[in-house]
Amino acid sequence: MPRIYLDYNASTPVDHRVAAAMRPFVEDHFGNPSSGHWAGVGAKAALEEARGQVAALIGAESDEIIFTSGGSEANNLALKGVAWSLKAKGDHVITSSVEHPAILGPCRFLARSGFRVTIVPVDRFGRIDPDDVRRAITPQTVLISIMHANNEVGTMQPVVGVSRIAREHGILLHTDAAQSVGKVATDVNALGVDLLTIAGHKVYAPKGVGALYVRRGTPLEPLIHGAAHEGGRRAGTESALLAVGLGTACELARDLAPMDEVCALRDRFWQRLQAAFGDRVVLNGHPDHRLPNTLNVSFVGQVGAEVLARLEGVAASTGSACHTGHVELSPVLQAMGVAPEVGMGAIRFSLGRRTTQREIDTVVDQLADILDVRRGRA
Ligand SMILES: Cc1ncc(COP(=O)(O)O)c(C=O)c1O
Repeated sequence: MPRIYLDYNASTPVDHRVAAAMRPFVEDHFGNPSSGHWAGVGAKAALEEARGQVAALIGAESDEIIFTSGGSEANNLALKGVAWSLKAKGDHVITSSVEHPAILGPCRFLARSGFRVTIVPVDRFGRIDPDDVRRAITPQTVLISIMHANNEVGTMQPVVGVSRIAREHGILLHTDAAQSVGKVATDVNALGVDLLTIAGHKVYAPKGVGALYVRRGTPLEPLIHGAAHEGGRRAGTESALLAVGLGTACELARDLAPMDEVCALRDRFWQRLQAAFGDRVVLNGHPDHRLPNTLNVSFVGQVGAEVLARLEGVAASTGSACHTGHVELSPVLQAMGVAPEVGMGAIRFSLGRRTTQREIDTVVDQLADILDVRRGRA
């Protein structure tokens, strides 16, 4: 049984060009980037080149990039760092109901620490209404955090609309772009954001590295205090190895052309599913404002985890969890108001650079067999 990987939103393989760029730093270039001698100077140069590559991908300046251990740390740094540094000014944060746990978790922590958090709802496609953000603003609001694209259903948020409102009110705006960077154009100035999260392992770099963009002049209390690494905003000896991995991945991600092919495959996948299953398959997420690689579908009346278990060799994710015979929808599907009998059959297929048409066709045929529909209809 061939193995088919359709879980690129969970993690991407390391691109071989990324691995090649990293290899000398595994084997030879071990210096501490803060050292003044030859070993440190080389490491520092590589670190700064990588910082420039990350910045270039999102239209930022190099000194606006802080390397982190990944998307979760970048989100934590953005939320806690801004909230703490502005707590004399206000104690209110706004976010949305479909954020990743790496946003909602820090928000719950802030709420336990005396902040107030407003969570704006989404419509049935998983999109917020910027006017809900406007209505949630109070004189105490110091930060708005709205994700660029959702990890589960791929829905893209109207970040530009939120940015206009945030600017009018002089409030900082963060976006979690862990899923959008490398899939759609993501430019900090076009989006109008002050902080932006990048996760390495979603963009063909290794796990354990990410970055936070912080617009010049944005106040930010570090999470990790110590020496003056990363402009005094994140202490700890930087890993030139991981930074080079992320930098190279970001350099490669500037070419979005491969995403057109991914999008075409994703659309073919959906068309074939519709042909095979008719109204027994439902699309979750926005039909248009959606990541080009993401296809979250519900097989009506089925349990997603059970369908996946029978899809031998196929790596994908479900939108529901089974607890002792009872199926619970993911918080994202719940927030979208998806009916239980539809949401429990949700499966997220997320495609990437290595996905082939043959893989997509194999999965559709397997699904048709498992769920007992005539292949001919596909
Ligand atoms: C939207 C989003 N934000 C944040 C994260 C967390 O990133 P990391 O796994 O690098 O900590 C993820 C990972 O799934 C994600 O999809």
